[in-house]
Amino acid sequence: MSNYHIKHLEEYYQVYRKSVNNPESFWEEIAEEHFLWRKKWNQVLKWDFDTPEITWFEGAKLNITENCIDRHLATRGDKTAIIFEPNNPDESAEHITYRQLYERVNKFANVLRDQGIKKGDRVCIYLPMIPELAISVLACARIGAIHSVVFAGFSANALATRINDSSCKIVITSDGSFRGAKTIDLKSIVDEALTDCPSVDSVLVAKRIQTDVNMKDGRDYWLQPLLDAASEEGKAEVMDAEDPLFILYTSGSTGKPKGMVHTTGGYMVYTAYTFKNVFQYREEDVYWCTADIGWITGHSYIVYGPLCNGATTVMFEGVPSYPDFGRFWEVVAKHNVNQFYTAPTAIRALAKEGVELVEKHDLSSLKVLGTVGEPINEEAWHWYDDNVGKRKAPIVDTWWQTETGGIMITPIAFATPTKPTYATLPFIGIQPALLDENGTEIQGNQVDGRLCIKFPWPSIARTIWGNHQRYKDTYFSAYKNMYFTGDGALRDEVGYYRITGRVDDVIIVSGHNLGTAPIEDTINEHPAVAESAIVGFPHDIKGNALYGYVTLKETGESRNHDNLRTEINQLITEQIGPIAKLDKIQFTDGLPKTRSGKIMRRILRKIASNDMSNLGDTSTLLNPEVVEAIMDNAL
Ligand code: WT7
Repeated sequence: MSNYHIKHLEEYYQVYRKSVNNPESFWEEIAEEHFLWRKKWNQVLKWDFDTPEITWFEGAKLNITENCIDRHLATRGDKTAIIFEPNNPDESAEHITYRQLYERVNKFANVLRDQGIKKGDRVCIYLPMIPELAISVLACARIGAIHSVVFAGFSANALATRINDSSCKIVITSDGSFRGAKTIDLKSIVDEALTDCPSVDSVLVAKRIQTDVNMKDGRDYWLQPLLDAASEEGKAEVMDAEDPLFILYTSGSTGKPKGMVHTTGGYMVYTAYTFKNVFQYREEDVYWCTADIGWITGHSYIVYGPLCNGATTVMFEGVPSYPDFGRFWEVVAKHNVNQFYTAPTAIRALAKEGVELVEKHDLSSLKVLGTVGEPINEEAWHWYDDNVGKRKAPIVDTWWQTETGGIMITPIAFATPTKPTYATLPFIGIQPALLDENGTEIQGNQVDGRLCIKFPWPSIARTIWGNHQRYKDTYFSAYKNMYFTGDGALRDEVGYYRITGRVDDVIIVSGHNLGTAPIEDTINEHPAVAESAIVGFPHDIKGNALYGYVTLKETGESRNHDNLRTEINQLITEQIGPIAKLDKIQFTDGLPKTRSGKIMRRILRKIASNDMSNLGDTSTLLNPEVVEAIMDNAL
């Protein structure tokens, strides 16, 4: 039996027991036998959830790109590492072999070195899904610079906040991006952001949409000429296992985005190991994850996990609806995709368009289907199973988070019997617990509670950049000696987990994590607004959509409300990005508050969900009269 490659359910249980009974020797064996280290560790694991301090493979030396690229050259040099499928189906796809990837990453790494970027420096990457995105990520890792990828759908303001939070020295961007029939001028967004980013010395600009852009002398450089002039050889920086590999921002329920810091050794081991097993990747397979590299899913399961296994990974620049809603299936057929990993929101959007668009394409290559990002509803699960997988491809519903680095609760394809809407069993090494409101662990099955993790795993984020206290407060303070996920879950009679959703003020919209507070802060900046509260409500395609209750400074009909709605969404688009726009905005005379002044969101959630029959206990409200008015005017 190989602990590295699990094939049956009995094997899963055996390996799982090993991983839990003796985590250190278990992970030591995986790390030792399947990865390339420059020097072995002094100690496998040190941890204290109270401080909190977690180290894996302390003292070990490595470079993750030697694991993702160099070590494959001898046996897989001519194998395709990345298939780039462009936005426009008439433009040909690009196949990048492991050898070409080696050369392109080295060239890029040498350009960064020439720009004065050194180990530990922060590099902001603001690029569309073009090969330069994966290559620049790997180039940073090659020289030990810490990449901070910002999703290219974020606004100038959101970009500037992220650049400044970790004082990035350089920004890598492009003239613009293609998104379906539209183009977006990324460079001008970067220019706007940089009016307020003192740490940035230079900007590298890739050409993608061939538009004229403004290039600032002494700061901005076209990327291609620099790459052309750079050497395709270069040494990888030797990194400590606990050196930061990247920062990735995720929204919190309050305050500014959290820069989650992932380190090198443990992250590599865990993402590679989960990739191999969850998707049951085999040597000749073609794997496609439709996420953007701007999110953790793309970091772990487009770039690092697949490449570490010598896999062929597809990078798709476009959107599911262009040129029509059959694009995903066309791409699956074109590249003979074997493992396909997407989000429930995409499945729901495609299901709405009918099965004809699926049936037009030959999907017989598909062996495994995956979902991630939010709970998948039963209807979408069956549609995916029936029409895409033809009931032959197991669906792996993978639960995890930006903070966890890798997949945590999931079926192992072909080993774990699936159950619609259930993420099923903890992955190897993961020890979940359900807690009640008093912080007591709930034992047994057929129970529900708050989902926590009892024991560290190799790819857990180590801190929040620049704010370790916030890391402790957010994840390790709700319950003693537990990592708190922010999610609720139930455990069924056989021990399968079903994630029921967030129990905090984070709302998952189309699989994107949105904190309510930053959106409310933005709305409150509008001169006409006194106060606001955002809640989620169920939406057929997005899973959840945003409902805003807004109290104006001057009540009455003096303003045109539709104009105001447009202005509020405009403001949100500018400050955060279009993904945070509100679907519904209700103007209210006041918001229901407790005597301590806290907005009672529970009530607002019920009204937004059109579930007004039982609002629960309202006796602690300071102003019960506003509830009636809000209900009367609900949208
Ligand atoms: C939150 C984390 C992990 C990559 C994408 C999201 C929700 C994620 C599932 C799932 C139910 C899920 C949780 C989690 N979530 N996967 N399979 N079933 N809920 O990363 O932006 O950090 O969001 O997404 O609520 O806490 P993220």
